Amino acid sequence: MLVLGIETSCDETSVSVVENGRKVLSNVVSSSVRLHQKYGGIIPEIAFRKQLETIAPVAESALRDAGIDLGDIGLISVTDNPGLLGSLVVGISFAKALSLAAEIPLLGVNHLHSHIFAGFLEEKKPRFPFTALIVSGGHTSLYYVRDFDRIELAGSTKDDACGEAFDKVAKILRQGYPGGPVIEQLSRRGDPRRVRFNCLNSKEPYNFSFSGIKTAVLYHVDKHAQKGALSGKSAFVCDTAAAFQDAVIEALVVKSLAACKAYKTGSLVIGGGVAANGRLRAVFAREGKVRGIGVFFPSLAYCMDNAAMVACLGYHLYKKGHTSGLDLDVSFN
Ligand code: KG4
Ligand code: ZN
Repeated sequence: MLVLGIETSCDETSVSVVENGRKVLSNVVSSSVRLHQKYGGIIPEIAFRKQLETIAPVAESALRDAGIDLGDIGLISVTDNPGLLGSLVVGISFAKALSLAAEIPLLGVNHLHSHIFAGFLEEKKPRFPFTALIVSGGHTSLYYVRDFDRIELAGSTKDDACGEAFDKVAKILRQGYPGGPVIEQLSRRGDPRRVRFNCLNSKEPYNFSFSGIKTAVLYHVDKHAQKGALSGKSAFVCDTAAAFQDAVIEALVVKSLAACKAYKTGSLVIGGGVAANGRLRAVFAREGKVRGIGVFFPSLAYCMDNAAMVACLGYHLYKKGHTSGLDLDVSFN
């Protein structure tokens, strides 16, 4: 069965065609990130206005790239929460219009759950049950996953999301937006031992907190940055970025592996934009191996927001009997 996935929860407009929840025939992603760069963060009104303009051409490209017609589609799967309200409405309205016009079944899916199943687009898949860590710009959550429709939240961030912390620290260091890829690049040149940050909150084993480390970086910069140290890729900037990145990765690793142990799962799935970080991938793979836990990552293209993962989860949920009606709306679950 061919599934048309639609993803518009943040600044991306993405439409994808996926066969049987596995084979990606097309995955078109149009991002408005450049329009937000000068503000150092996403401006919702700009995001959804752009999505209104791009959704139809992006969908046409996805069908063209896949070499199929709308009539070949067996299901339309669309992100219905969480995300920016106006942006979600654009995707949902478009999906409902297609569903009505072409008489194709419709299904709304959770954005974070679709990040969990992005890894199912790969050859090697985990077996249920498994633990999942989703690290994105808006969320940081640990899940115990029994099945496609049986997902329990084990812990989440108490304040900033992990990707948000990367974005804010890049801003403090006067580097670009989005901060994640920038911090990763800077860290490659930096020495993480020059300064030490910590974001392990030991009282809550599966919950995260990233606002303290952001403030610690700010104080460090205020106190130690010499004149001109924040211009370009100075040693100070690179060392600070590397120390921040290592502290964040340490917290993610310690808490995720603790959750694997508590839930007795031998597999850990990692997804979301921050899962594109090369150092994070290497440390998780190493630490998982030491403890006999299989660590699964989506390929880089499916870490960031994309519609292929939405089609993938939609396919599996539909097979289990889930569908939505034309009254589908943004869900606040
Ligand atoms: O999942 P995503 O594409 O969108 C949301 O659902 O939020 O995640 C975007 C986040 C941004 O905060 C961005 O800075 C972060 O993912 N990110 C990274 C990297 N690439 C993107 N963080 C760390 N290292 C990266 N290489
Ligand atoms: Zn996302």
